[in-house]
Amino acid sequence: MKKITKAVFPVAGLGSRFLPATKAQPKEMLPIVDKPLIQYAVEEAVAAGITDMVFITGRNKRAIEDHFDKAYEMEAELEAAGKEDLLALVRSVIPPHINCIFIRQPAPLGLGHAVLCARPVIGDAPFAVLLADDLMDADCGQPSVMAQMTRLYEAEQASIVAVQDVPRALTRQYGIVSSTPHGERLERMHGIVEKPAPEDAPSTLAVSGRYVLSNRIFDYLEHQGKGMGGEIQLTDAIAQLLQSEAVYAYRYRGTRYDCGSKLGYLQASVALGLKHPETGAAFADYLRTLSF
Ligand code: UTP
Repeated sequence: MKKITKAVFPVAGLGSRFLPATKAQPKEMLPIVDKPLIQYAVEEAVAAGITDMVFITGRNKRAIEDHFDKAYEMEAELEAAGKEDLLALVRSVIPPHINCIFIRQPAPLGLGHAVLCARPVIGDAPFAVLLADDLMDADCGQPSVMAQMTRLYEAEQASIVAVQDVPRALTRQYGIVSSTPHGERLERMHGIVEKPAPEDAPSTLAVSGRYVLSNRIFDYLEHQGKGMGGEIQLTDAIAQLLQSEAVYAYRYRGTRYDCGSKLGYLQASVALGLKHPETGAAFADYLRTLSF
């Protein structure tokens, strides 16, 4: 039985919806409370038992490599100052058994192209894809969303795409699937289209940025022409994959925040700020003082 041990983090996008904040820094390094978005995604993958993290980076993304590297000077300073708790915090960013691999996407040709860049290190295994700007907050008591998906993969041995229901008016922002029920929270996918107009959308089931993919996806990505927006789309390759093997849509147990958009980013900051052990109570008190 195949297990998922590798995850791809495409972080080479331009982040144009978040300019000027993303002019000189990656959007994946924007913090929600005290951790950058990319760290939430990596922690979600670690919680799913994934050990090899493959980052597809681009220009202006050096900060991501530095974040997952050893910070010699800072660690030495904190050690000398006896700040043990902060030292532990800095060192905890990446557990010792995790490998980080960085690949450069030469130009932002699209999400599908970014995933294809990972092929040399993925080999012939199935793998996960996590888009860090979709922050996933699993329901209380539930495993991380990626852990829910890798468990499902182990049971089904087939590709899994995370989905949620969205208002029909918003289908233009998502990949939208057509499917039939296949069990609890699971749908067998029959089609998928990128960002359809509300009147053309086959359903209101929208893809969130989490996938577990069969290795065969690379064969389709290799020959994938440009799609929506002139970019090589992962959605189009999945549409081909599901013609030859089963692909399932999974309604995950959790909440997605679209932190690539200003509103989603603000919503995530409030939701996670309220849950934060250090700030939660005081932040709630502050919010109660606000009137609109
Ligand atoms: P987005 O559609 O969010 O694009 O990409 P973007 O460029 O990052 O942001 P906007 O729309 O300009 O504001 C979805 C995911 O795919 C990655 C992005 O980093 C993001 O995680 N991506 C996209 C790449 O890695 N390479 C690409 O060529 C395009």
